[in-house]
Amino acid sequence: MKKLSLVAILILFGSFLLAQSGNQIIKHVIAKMTLQEKVRLLIGGNDVKFEGAYTDVTNKVPGAAGFTYPLRRLNLPSLILSDGPAGVRIEPIRNHDSSKTYYATGFPVATLLASTWDTALVYKVGDAFGNEVKEFGVDVILAPAMNIQRNPLDGRNFEYYSEDPVIAGNIAAALVNGIQSNGVGTSIKHFVANNVETDRTTLNEIISERALREIYLKGFEIAVKKAQPWTVMNSYNKINGIYTSENYDLNTTILRKEWGFKGLVMTDWGGGRHPVAQAKAGSDLLMPGTQNQFDEIMAALRNGSLSIDVIDNNVAKILGLILKSPSYKHYKYSEEPDLKAHAKISRLAASEGMILLKNEGNALPLQNNIRKVALLGDASYNTIANGTGSGEVHKPYVVSIFEGMKNSGYMIDNQSTTASVDALASKDDAAIITIGRNAGEGSDRPVDGDFTLKDSEREVIKKVSTAFHAKGKKVIVILNIGGAIEVASWRDNVDAILLAWQPGMEAGNAIADILSGKVNPSGKLAITFPMKYSDEPSAGNFPGTTFPKQARAAIFGSNSTNREVDYKEGIFVGYRYFNTFKVQPAYPFGFGLSYTHFNFSDLKLSDSSFHHHLTASVTVKNSGDVAGKEVVQLYISAPKGEEGLEKPEEELKAFAKTNLLKPGESQTIQFSITPNELASFVESHNAWIADKGVYTLRIGASSVDIRQQASFAVPSEIIVEKTHAIHYPKNIQDLQ
Ligand code: BGC
Repeated sequence: MKKLSLVAILILFGSFLLAQSGNQIIKHVIAKMTLQEKVRLLIGGNDVKFEGAYTDVTNKVPGAAGFTYPLRRLNLPSLILSDGPAGVRIEPIRNHDSSKTYYATGFPVATLLASTWDTALVYKVGDAFGNEVKEFGVDVILAPAMNIQRNPLDGRNFEYYSEDPVIAGNIAAALVNGIQSNGVGTSIKHFVANNVETDRTTLNEIISERALREIYLKGFEIAVKKAQPWTVMNSYNKINGIYTSENYDLNTTILRKEWGFKGLVMTDWGGGRHPVAQAKAGSDLLMPGTQNQFDEIMAALRNGSLSIDVIDNNVAKILGLILKSPSYKHYKYSEEPDLKAHAKISRLAASEGMILLKNEGNALPLQNNIRKVALLGDASYNTIANGTGSGEVHKPYVVSIFEGMKNSGYMIDNQSTTASVDALASKDDAAIITIGRNAGEGSDRPVDGDFTLKDSEREVIKKVSTAFHAKGKKVIVILNIGGAIEVASWRDNVDAILLAWQPGMEAGNAIADILSGKVNPSGKLAITFPMKYSDEPSAGNFPGTTFPKQARAAIFGSNSTNREVDYKEGIFVGYRYFNTFKVQPAYPFGFGLSYTHFNFSDLKLSDSSFHHHLTASVTVKNSGDVAGKEVVQLYISAPKGEEGLEKPEEELKAFAKTNLLKPGESQTIQFSITPNELASFVESHNAWIADKGVYTLRIGASSVDIRQQASFAVPSEIIVEKTHAIHYPKNIQDLQ
């Protein structure tokens, strides 16, 4: 014990010394920099292109999203920043020469990774991803994206994890830790509440401080505290009238002072309006960088409205990042990561995050006598690996469902697309229909024909089901989508539904692994599927209201109007709303079927009274016939307390995935509960408070399938954390 603590002290002292020497170097470099050099470093290197002298930098990694300014005089290299959440987004072909290519692995999208509920697996994905970042010569990957999926129509939902911050924060932390274990940086984005794409650069959002802290900031807080990402990227939108990138309280008071973030904050590309306000707020690096920003900051320094201390502080953050970077260390990158090994990880992760939504009469896995399958729907042949925009990866291939099924030994005759449905029903043993959806940054999805099915899709489902069922044959629907769609009106027609999400470049192989039974599905929903769009708590406030009179140009020349979204639902986002107000969803948060069954037993709490800490343990047993994994979800239902603060029926506080349990095998899972898990944010006290009273701890296989529960008391109110009184204008009109 004594020895261990000595080692720990030595390690701590060692890292303290390293940090000190880093700080000394930074101070020394700042002392040598001219004012111009400092300001040049604060804005991205985009305008370097026009200076013409740095083609080695601008051409270093073609297709990268941006780079920082190189300061040759001081031996400070340019850092390369690249998108995006599902893999390294760079140009695969350089100078029209395809004899050497630069394709990167297309990993499953974020929503799928969250649906694995498996932080160890996501770490593995991060590790492989980070290796590609490093081997392609990139210093910081602009990922993970981790905004809350407030509404199913958001065009970027596929890039985001969940409607719940505990899932989003923990999955993001696992990915960040995996990527950064390679010695490259991440950028968790978009800080914060980037929940609407329509008019995203002029959008104002009205959010209560409680909803902001409990729902929209919480995931970022978890990721910062558990993983210390090297950088954070702020969002395009305003919150209560202030651009997030210009908000000191967000970027400095909350992120740095309250959470202890040590890294650099950068803007989203062209985000915000006022570079001086951004610099003062703690947005250290303005991306991608313009001459105007340079001029405005220089002018403010000259006229005394901006202090050099602010600039030195921001420059120090950029220097800190440079010192850690592979570019500074002259890392010799290979441009040849092991795509084959990473494809295996991509396939594994994909199959672990797919969700079996329906399985009537054990339609899946396909029985051994099913060999010939009718395969319908364009996405069966043009399978969607990931969404569009900066979240799209240039991957070497995408295995379609057609190819994946053939690779698994199924016979798919190409007549599926042309033959009559009756002919297919006579010839084939089962039918698979794939419904595909794609979306991306810059716009949101429409309800008609996107959230709901198109008429042609309804017709196919109907006709195929009638014909195949008449012959006693099964019909399976695969959802190759990036966000929730309407299922309630058509699901009764089909036997099974597999929610495959957008599963990356090994899509078809991973889907075939589930359909054939090679992999037992263990994914669970990290979002709610509503019965109909209007059931969504934010349906009336998405994508908000426009004010066309105040129209002005947005970035990149696009026209954008001023738009406002009122987050009227407050903290009641997703299952917090559905479960509290007893609105029946189509599929609830946390739901997902398996080819086996699990029993939960022996829930034990370490105490019936909470003081500083509590542990809960529960045993999960595979009571079915095949091996499988279960996601164990821990929810807490808190008392209202003396001030009568509204609280959700229950909130997810922890989760774990079991090992692969053989039939009859059990595993005991242990959870740790701290005061943080009991607290709500009380605006009038600027504090996180755990109310006195009786709490119920629920262990479930979904948010509504609670298998075990136990109560414990908090004998007196606990002030868990006092926060800063942040500048948070309540009256939005004052700011416009
Ligand atoms: C997106 C970011 C992305 C950046 C750089 C922006 O339009 O919102 O997520 O990282 O572009 O490509």
